Amino acid sequence: MSEYVRVARTDEIAPGTMKRVEVAGRAVVVVNVGGEFFAIDDTCTHEEASLSRGTLTGEVVVCPKHGARFHVKTGRVLALPAVRSAAVYPVRVDGDEVLVSPEAQRTAGVPHRR
Ligand code: FES
Repeated sequence: MSEYVRVARTDEIAPGTMKRVEVAGRAVVVVNVGGEFFAIDDTCTHEEASLSRGTLTGEVVVCPKHGARFHVKTGRVLALPAVRSAAVYPVRVDGDEVLVSPEAQRTAGVPHRR
């Protein structure tokens, strides 16, 4: 099992905000949803825009390029034009530090409906 990686202090990512970090060479965006932290691939599965440059609404991150939406807890894609879900990563909080596992988890299937 891979080691968790320290990526930020909890006070660096306020509720309702996100921060791009690197975990084992991958760009990941850490999101604070009401005091709970989640981590999702920073790279949009459509045309590789950086999701951390997008917007966060509740538990949904919106890609800045064409507006695809991803659920930050599951990585599930919720809106076109992306059709593939994004990987998510387990997160732990240790004191005032946010740690992310480099072990990606991916939601199976194409979940959105046309
Ligand atoms: S690059 Fe994200 S929706 Fe197109």
